[in-house]
Amino acid sequence: MSAEPIAPSSASGSSQDVLEWWRNGVIYQVYVRSFQDSDGDGVGDLDGVRSRLPYLRSLGVDGVWLNPFYASPQHDHGYDVADHRAVHPEYGDLDAFDRLVRDAHRLDIKVIVDVVPNHCSIEHPWFEEAVAAGPGSPERGRFHFADGRGEYGELPPNNWRSIFGGPAWRRISEPDGSPGQWYLHTFAPEQADFNWRDPDVADHFEEVLRFWLDRGVDGLRIDVAHGLHKREGLPDHPFAIDDELTGDPVNPYAWNQPEVHDVWRSWRALAEGYSERTGRPRALIGEVGLLDAAQLADYQRPDELHQCFFFEFLRAPWDAEEFSKVIDRGLGTVAAAGSPVAWVLNNHDMPRSVTRYAGGAPGVAHGDIDLGLTRARAAALLMLALPGSAYLYQGEELGLPEVTDLPDHVLTDPMFRRTDGARRGRDGCRVPLPWAAGQDSFGFSPLGTPVPTWLPQPEWFAHHSVDRQLGSGESMLQLYREAIAVRRRVPALSSVRFRWLPADSGVVAFTRGDGVACVVNCSPRPVCAPVGSQLLLGSDPEVGEKLPPNTAGWFLLEVAR
Ligand code: GLC
Repeated sequence: MSAEPIAPSSASGSSQDVLEWWRNGVIYQVYVRSFQDSDGDGVGDLDGVRSRLPYLRSLGVDGVWLNPFYASPQHDHGYDVADHRAVHPEYGDLDAFDRLVRDAHRLDIKVIVDVVPNHCSIEHPWFEEAVAAGPGSPERGRFHFADGRGEYGELPPNNWRSIFGGPAWRRISEPDGSPGQWYLHTFAPEQADFNWRDPDVADHFEEVLRFWLDRGVDGLRIDVAHGLHKREGLPDHPFAIDDELTGDPVNPYAWNQPEVHDVWRSWRALAEGYSERTGRPRALIGEVGLLDAAQLADYQRPDELHQCFFFEFLRAPWDAEEFSKVIDRGLGTVAAAGSPVAWVLNNHDMPRSVTRYAGGAPGVAHGDIDLGLTRARAAALLMLALPGSAYLYQGEELGLPEVTDLPDHVLTDPMFRRTDGARRGRDGCRVPLPWAAGQDSFGFSPLGTPVPTWLPQPEWFAHHSVDRQLGSGESMLQLYREAIAVRRRVPALSSVRFRWLPADSGVVAFTRGDGVACVVNCSPRPVCAPVGSQLLLGSDPEVGEKLPPNTAGWFLLEVAR
């Protein structure tokens, strides 16, 4: 940025200021399996999460989103649900869940749980009943069972690919032992897709929603929210599939069917009923994996989901022009639908931002991790300065890089197996957290735990441990704590008002509310801070009148002082 005085140039957003918690909340995603083990089995659990609530309180987040902890054979770590209303024994039980909600609410932390409506485990009683009941039965009608193609039905019913690799169909044996029908599985073969045209399915999920809302949850994160309905007749995918290994995220017959919006309207009405009756706003947050921002915006129309993750931001490379375009799309398309953008830099499905920004191939090569860390610090200030809500993924606040060298034999992601190792999968961002540098398992499991953590932690996790970072004023953890605190304290940062500032190429600069500027320097040269401004927070101790490359700062502008 030049040393020219900064003047707001164009505006987006409206003058409406923030109301419900989900509109500008900072939500912390807990991958329960990897957060904190309370009972010494090497696997995280709900009581472990509860024991760390004070940590989350001091981080300053508004809520937690818990990845699935339901009864499940764990082929996809809980996204293969066998009973949506029971807790998987490794993670605790319903009493542990109730304790967690109670304590979280005492600390004013909202609780969001995951709902997985697209599919269930093949160990779900409904699926077992469907196999037993035979072709044409109402039980099979709850899923997508179809006869195979070929003379003997030996070929899958259509050409769809599974997102985790291979065909999206598996053949069963009929109860008499003969080779039978096929069922659709968009993900792993252990995850059978529901047929949302069968009213039993909608009724079942309404009960599931009520079950968790009655237990006091504040929000529901909805898995694969664009995928519930499939095109009637399940026609072949019409185009050549580029990716031979895994499924096509834009298969026009598998995703984004118009009927899905009816589901969100009815869920919204149900959630609003709870909000009105209890006076506590309940929110629906969609995982909508569509690449088109306009299509995504449709999911957050005023009578549909409250908000959806904005994954374009997570996918953007370290590049000012890309960031600016993506932010414009978020604010201009998604937010224009009347709902705030849910910004996200990390989650349990993607290589961690430190590694993505490190200049190496994401998830494969290490690149320059120090560079990645410096940029991830700046990206955190960028995200937390944007209007809308922000979703952090556990370990992001510790600056954890992806663990890229887990040995093959410990990998658990179905993607690894289904692609014969060509895709290493997502285990590298799911390694149990380091809490205390000097302890076994870095404090993840209780002292004296005889078993190893479910995924091995690398030695270098010690440098990222919570205890070390609490002792260092300049750690990533302290930066996140401070940024969240400033965001709460400075009203401009809770405003929906946003204006781009004129800036040199390689620089992202905008104002929020009345007089706070965020400047991110993605260029290779130092840039000047806004003239006459006062630094509120820098991503790096060097940020002051100038911002070195790969840094960001929040500034109080002269007009506001
Ligand atoms: C979502 C989840 C992912 C899971 C998949 C299948 O994308 O985020 O972890 O594997 O759905 O349920």
